[in-house]
Amino acid sequence: MSKRLGFTAVSATLALTLAACGGEGAGGSGGAGGGAEAEELTIGVSMPTQTSERWIADGENVQEQLEAEGYTVDLQYAGDDIPTQSQQIDQMITEGADILIIAAIDGTALAGQLENAAANDIPVIAYDRLIRDSENVDFYVTFDNFEVGVAQANALLTGLGLQTADGQPGTATGPFNIELFAGSLDDNNAFFFFDGAMSVLQPLIDDGTLVVKSGQTSIEQAAILRWQQETAQRRMEDLLTSAYNDGSRVDGVLSPYDGISRGIITALQNAGYGSAANAIPVVTGQDAEIASVKLIADGVQSSTIFKDTRLLAEQAVVAATAFAEGEEPEANDTETYDNGVKVVPSYLLPVETVFADDIQSVLIDSEYWTAEEVEAGQAD
Ligand code: GAL
Repeated sequence: MSKRLGFTAVSATLALTLAACGGEGAGGSGGAGGGAEAEELTIGVSMPTQTSERWIADGENVQEQLEAEGYTVDLQYAGDDIPTQSQQIDQMITEGADILIIAAIDGTALAGQLENAAANDIPVIAYDRLIRDSENVDFYVTFDNFEVGVAQANALLTGLGLQTADGQPGTATGPFNIELFAGSLDDNNAFFFFDGAMSVLQPLIDDGTLVVKSGQTSIEQAAILRWQQETAQRRMEDLLTSAYNDGSRVDGVLSPYDGISRGIITALQNAGYGSAANAIPVVTGQDAEIASVKLIADGVQSSTIFKDTRLLAEQAVVAATAFAEGEEPEANDTETYDNGVKVVPSYLLPVETVFADDIQSVLIDSEYWTAEEVEAGQAD
């Protein structure tokens, strides 16, 4: 008996020594400059909402990949409610999170939480959406958001026949009536998407090839709070009533996100679009959400922009691991993302445009979706 106790005591001492060699900095809880083993660290992951499947996939991907590295993960969804997200982050800090990964609902609303994180030496990684007005954002992992907007505008032009998929002049000449939608104004990405799109569309609006018949061309007019499908449907209904009640038709709609696209499409279908005599307008999108991929396969939605959230999760894990080891993550962009206080070092991933013909090669071959899921229009 005493022998066994002795053995246990030695093992415990050994374990403690090994842990010490594992090398947390003095007093460090493994945060910046800590250099701790993954097994000792908890990573708080704060996601905005579960109403959009992309954020569910993001949360799952980040969690799985962090756990595979040995980290403990505290994953929370905030139901698109700003106070809930603030409170969840405060709680992660209180409960001893060592690193935070945050996809903000309102990018300007978390300065207090980030101050708290900084005071506790907790590195903060902004996930997909930049956190603004705070110097305590340590790194940003995202996609090339300006390029998303450029790709959406090009997809609109391709859908209208003004250009081919590889950017050559198309057979159509216009003029075409289009309407513009943008994302939520509290999300920094909304501006990048809209600015990217307008960099392509504005010259064609100026030369009369494209006509925004409603006259609503500013991002403030085009914005959809919280990116909500129902809000987008209502705005499209209003546009149809106010600008197209003279027998004219809308030919294309710039939409920044698949959920918004589905709202727009519902409004268009309710107004009689979508028959052989009255073709559904060209509607763009983003995120390759399964319901929209099916609409694309069925010829209802024209395109989406695919952002591989598995790769984004991977980058978040790479960044978290760098911080855990007391290092700075490697950025590939140190100029673009000024959050109002500082330029946040960023890692940007590329994006891909998906038309019906690309579903197999881009989405199914990469195992993002299965052929059965596309057929059913829902995830397994
Ligand atoms: C943005 C994100 C888009 C889309 C949108 C709505 O921040 O970059 O991919 O998901 O939110 O959720």
